[in-house]
Amino acid sequence: MSEQQSIHGIWTKRWTFVLAATGSAVGLGNIWKFPYMAGENGGGAFVLIYLCFIAAIGIPVMLAEILLGRRGRASPINSMHKLADEAQATPFWGGIGWLGAVAGMLILSFYSVVAGWAVSYVYLMASGTFTGQEAEVISGEFGNLVSDPAKLVDWHTVFIAMTVVVVANGIHKGLEMAVQLLMPLLFIMLLLLLGYSMTQEAFTDSLRFLFKVDFGKLTEEAVLSALGHSFFTLSLGMGAIMAYGAYMSRQQSLAATVVTVGVLDTLVAIVAGMVIFTIVFANGLEPGAGPSLMFQTLPIAFSQMPGGVVLGTMFFVLVVAAAWSSAISLAEPAVAWAVETLGMNRGVAALIVGVVAWVLGVACALSLNIWSDVKIFDETIFDFLDKLTTNIMLPLGGLLICIFVAWVMDRAIVRKEVDIDHPTIYKIWFFLVRFVSPVGVAVVMLNKLME
Ligand code: PHE
Repeated sequence: MSEQQSIHGIWTKRWTFVLAATGSAVGLGNIWKFPYMAGENGGGAFVLIYLCFIAAIGIPVMLAEILLGRRGRASPINSMHKLADEAQATPFWGGIGWLGAVAGMLILSFYSVVAGWAVSYVYLMASGTFTGQEAEVISGEFGNLVSDPAKLVDWHTVFIAMTVVVVANGIHKGLEMAVQLLMPLLFIMLLLLLGYSMTQEAFTDSLRFLFKVDFGKLTEEAVLSALGHSFFTLSLGMGAIMAYGAYMSRQQSLAATVVTVGVLDTLVAIVAGMVIFTIVFANGLEPGAGPSLMFQTLPIAFSQMPGGVVLGTMFFVLVVAAAWSSAISLAEPAVAWAVETLGMNRGVAALIVGVVAWVLGVACALSLNIWSDVKIFDETIFDFLDKLTTNIMLPLGGLLICIFVAWVMDRAIVRKEVDIDHPTIYKIWFFLVRFVSPVGVAVVMLNKLME
């Protein structure tokens, strides 16, 4: 296959891919989901397993996924078709792309409900609602939000609209601009909060909670969640990173890129965890509070610090930005496919994907209040979509990607595409993708299934 170009364009600067991939990876998964999952699963042991999955499975799979995108130079569905064709394998490998595009829309639905919460907290913070309030009142505010269907749907709608607008504008005007400025700001804000936490006595309790390993607390469910989350947080297994890889230039080193993205993503999660648990322990809150954790803790810290209104507002603006740059990558695989294959206008395609995710998101939002009795496999609609995508669809996508790259593709092409100069590093990567990742994912998933 000769060198291909993506019809959607190419990232303008070398760094743009790193920024875009980091923008996709760093999001609610790091700031909202990781801390509450660590809290629900007892801390240390979960964190350790998660870090192992990131290093041994996540980062190698990310390399594999970008490689597919950069060689295919198209939307994940079409890239997979082309590459299957090139490898003279069955066109069913295109299924990886389909699975991903669907997973992206499903994730976008509940993701945007949570991002909507963050948008509403920008407003709550800026209006000074929390100033001088007791910790209980502040954490109680979250309950008011979640029990109000109209509010939830309104904020969710705002966020979906924001996502559609950026995706509709294409990768240059839309995606690049959004990440260049906001990602660095988010890092600075988190470091500031870290500085604040370090002045608190509870900081050491927070560290103990996150890093003291007690395997007694680890359940099979927790191991599966850690695996699923390592895919979720790095945006793997559903084509987001593959789609971005299609816009990546040849001059850039894949290995350096994935390590950068992986490390940045992990740092953000760990720092967010350190900050949040400091506030949890300083205020006698529950580490296992679940999805409400971030929204109940951080406003307490802001209400106590000088300049809290401004800092708190800024912080939630940045959380929204982080969620935004992730959401666009959730929509991109489906949108890019519709543009390429159906010849659809980008704006129309973005709108359709947005509407589908909006409808499903409304169901998620209502499942938090008036539809809380509606259960699918014993879970609310919100939890069902979260678990189905995070614990099943993403790891499955990752598994198939590994098999395709390490067992189906021509070895010489893979060697050339990864472009790792160091032979030992290449061998380690190939070994991880050929054996460790697929076996690891299969064992964890089967174990859970046969529970
Ligand atoms: N990685 C994003 C986050 O942590 C979520 C995401 C998942 C984005 C899958 C794209 C694909 O918030």
